[in-house]
Amino acid sequence: MNLWGGRFTKPTNQLVYDFNASIDFDQTFYQQDIQGSIAHVKMLTKQNILTLEEGQLIETALNQILTDINNGELKIDNSQEDIHSFVESTLIQRIGDTGKKLHTGRSRNDQVALDMRLYTRDQVIMLNTLIHNLLTTINEIMKEHLDTIMPGFTHLQKAQPITLAHHLGAYFEMFKRDSSRLEDIYTRMNICPLGSGALAGTTYPLDREYTAQLLGFDGPCLNSIDGVSDRDYLIELLSAMATMMMHMSRISEEIIIWNTNEYQFVELDDTFSTGSSIMPQKKNPDIAELIRGKTGRVYGALTSLLTTMKGLPLAYNKDMQEDKELVFDALTTTKGCLQLLNDMLKSTTFNKQKMRKSATGGFTNATDAADYLVNKGVPFRDAHGIIGRLVLYAIEQNKDLDDLSIDEFKNICDVFDEDIYEIINVETCVNKRNTIGAPGIEAMKQVIALNDIYINEN
Ligand code: ARG
Repeated sequence: MNLWGGRFTKPTNQLVYDFNASIDFDQTFYQQDIQGSIAHVKMLTKQNILTLEEGQLIETALNQILTDINNGELKIDNSQEDIHSFVESTLIQRIGDTGKKLHTGRSRNDQVALDMRLYTRDQVIMLNTLIHNLLTTINEIMKEHLDTIMPGFTHLQKAQPITLAHHLGAYFEMFKRDSSRLEDIYTRMNICPLGSGALAGTTYPLDREYTAQLLGFDGPCLNSIDGVSDRDYLIELLSAMATMMMHMSRISEEIIIWNTNEYQFVELDDTFSTGSSIMPQKKNPDIAELIRGKTGRVYGALTSLLTTMKGLPLAYNKDMQEDKELVFDALTTTKGCLQLLNDMLKSTTFNKQKMRKSATGGFTNATDAADYLVNKGVPFRDAHGIIGRLVLYAIEQNKDLDDLSIDEFKNICDVFDEDIYEIINVETCVNKRNTIGAPGIEAMKQVIALNDIYINEN
């Protein structure tokens, strides 16, 4: 049974009904729907649009409906097309004609806009808590690995020695930005659309400030057409989640690489890896791969909603109903990945020896050797050329720079002296880089202290 039968002479075609219905997914926010209705009723009563008795009767019944759904006594079925109709028709069934007054001065257009905002507003806070946990985990691992030397890469080629703390510190910054994006989005989305009506407000003397305040919003939206047709806040949220997934995908990709036989930088915990049904030796990084894989889903949701919205004339159009499944799925995916990435990182063992050994091979100290010559007065461009020849010579000899004798150094350039060995030692290479943001232990300690402050204040 529809709430809108009056104008029709024939029942809806069953396929049309099913195609149109959203109850399968919008029941997700039944709590918010009832919460919004209660605020609306309180306001209608305050404004004498409903009598005190009517208001109280409706409010008590709505609270009872909420309790009954919560404890399973009232099942949400698909006898109604959406959650709004389900709650309202249950109310009418339970209290009769007074229930029919609930929808005074309201449309499902502003109602759904409100419900979705209330729901996603809470979800933004949950996402932020999960990011916060991840930041805490990353910062703790950073503390343990201030002196774990590893190669830093460009083009996936060994570039310069860094530390694991420094490498993970890059992810700390990324997830910190993700968190601040959520905070920004929250501020913009925390505006109340209730009272926008179908699109043109209402003729009743609604107190929109009051409902906005009851529901914890910063105020009512200032344009009723925008109130019912704005989905920017969802697009922003999907975009922020897509960015988080991109960050999680990058760290997952590194874990996958670091977990290969060739690297062996990490040992994944047995609880976070899976085996092969045929190859007994396998221990696969499926969780990292799934996080990487699920990133595509969230990008898809963002592209999908952007595309849905692009051609919509003002104001409400049914196309917008498509926002829900996309956002719900992206939320479930992103929250799940944040949780799993956090737990996976916590249980991962980092192989200090392998990382250290890998940092010493591959001429990661070549830049420092060039800087050594510069400090002895050789112009940088010449120094670059000299070290290039030195590297070529070492490759031919199948040696690292550290393995060359002082005569071999001097043969290429007589500016070299015994002190070169100390300079090209990887520990020296790392610890001479002590400007803020660099991998040197002192610089990293300063950053970790700032991270601690950030974690405690947020
Ligand atoms: N299920 C609808 C949605 O999600 C609710 C709003 C319906 N409004 C309407 N005019 N049909 O968008």
